[in-house]
Amino acid sequence: MGEYVTLHYAGREFQLPLVEGSQGEKAIDISRLRQDTGLITLDPGFANTGSCRSAITFVDGERGILRYRGIPVEQLAERSTFKETAYLLINGVLPTQQEQTRFSVLLNDNSLVHEDMKTFYQNFPRSSHPMGILSAMVNALRSFYPEIQNLEEEINITVTRLLSKVRTMAAMSYKISRGHTVVYPRPDLTYCANFLNMMFDSPVRPYELDPDVVKALNVFLILHADHEQNCSTAAVRVVGSARVNLYAAISAGIAALWGPLHGGANQAVIEMLQEIHEEGLSGKQYLDRVKKDPSTRLMGFGHRVYKNFDPRAKIIREMCHKVLGRLGQTDNPLFELALRLEEIALKDEYFISRKLYPNVDFYSGVIYSALGIPRSMFTVMFAIARTAGWVAHWQEMVADPAMKIGRPRQLYTGPTQRDYVEIDKRT
Ligand code: ACO
Repeated sequence: MGEYVTLHYAGREFQLPLVEGSQGEKAIDISRLRQDTGLITLDPGFANTGSCRSAITFVDGERGILRYRGIPVEQLAERSTFKETAYLLINGVLPTQQEQTRFSVLLNDNSLVHEDMKTFYQNFPRSSHPMGILSAMVNALRSFYPEIQNLEEEINITVTRLLSKVRTMAAMSYKISRGHTVVYPRPDLTYCANFLNMMFDSPVRPYELDPDVVKALNVFLILHADHEQNCSTAAVRVVGSARVNLYAAISAGIAALWGPLHGGANQAVIEMLQEIHEEGLSGKQYLDRVKKDPSTRLMGFGHRVYKNFDPRAKIIREMCHKVLGRLGQTDNPLFELALRLEEIALKDEYFISRKLYPNVDFYSGVIYSALGIPRSMFTVMFAIARTAGWVAHWQEMVADPAMKIGRPRQLYTGPTQRDYVEIDKRT
């Protein structure tokens, strides 16, 4: 006999089943609540609501744990590559040598973007944000490539196509926005090396790949690859639940990720650091402003789930030291400012009492800047990485027999019934 939670309502008792995840987390199954009691739950921001069962990523916000398919992200950051981690997320296991080779061949074969898509790029206004362009272009892929049928082979190809093309399209949007010649992907380069080469190689200045920079990019993409039911992944699942094509669902995820409270935070952090630096404020002065003015936030701090520390931020802070050292930028003023802000905030009652800690985005912009990646591309970098997670969640959702179209309820608070009034009688 399973465990139940008893609800007392209107003089009756209702038994709500308790369900348990593989890490011992418990949840109340309310799927029959409305049917049995006439009640719904109200949970703004879904802070207490599990929308699905998922076997992809485990996060324990209290203990600062993040695991992809059971493997701690720290191990993946140290020993894996983004390509291998993407395979793990999508397929559930690490690839064998043979599977890895086949995955590389597929990524390579699908890395080119239809030449006609270049015309689209050229028609966006110069000031367009690359996230807007990327979202539109991913949606447009459906017009160039056929709809997935249900054959496993076709799904594999579509998924790999997306993973490979997102990277090419991101680099293309950068090159075109600068009015430069597009650099095509090369079959001899790895996933991350290829991206850097497409971004920075030019006919007048060949790009020299630095293995440390390639490693740093791999770590960044691994750390951003998935984070269970966050805002953009929830968007992919809800949009995908209407059975739209994969490209449309991922395009919705990109749009959600763009927001400054989500993936857009990495750009917002560097802009905040720059502003503090230019205004000549001390860290303490800026934090005083944050505390006084509720509309000003310390960007890159706080997380819905992590209430102790974000394990990704820890790895990125260490990477910052390494990468800036390697690039000879140890005196980077924005990194020094970020370290100072963190130090003061972690001792400040306002941040302590609200459990606000640096999140994955607090330091990532500093490294991206050091690597020469322009600010408007920061969130695009996040989108390339998160495509792996989005695709894994989309696949899991469409294969789930319990999957239903996403359609929350609401508590209506508008006017009760009233009559239509002719225009000449309205006051
Ligand atoms: N700076 C100052 N105060 C903050 C911050 C912050 N960064 N974050 C939260 N708070 C305060 C809120 O004002 C609120 O205070 P109150 O209780 O006095 O009203 C309290 O902490 C709780 O904040 P909520 O907004 O309710 O927390 P929630 O879990 O909904 O939000 C979020 C999480 C959106 C990440 C928030 O912390 C935030 O806006 N951070 C800054 C933006 C950011 O870095 N986003 C990236 C998140 S990581 C990612 O998406 C990849």
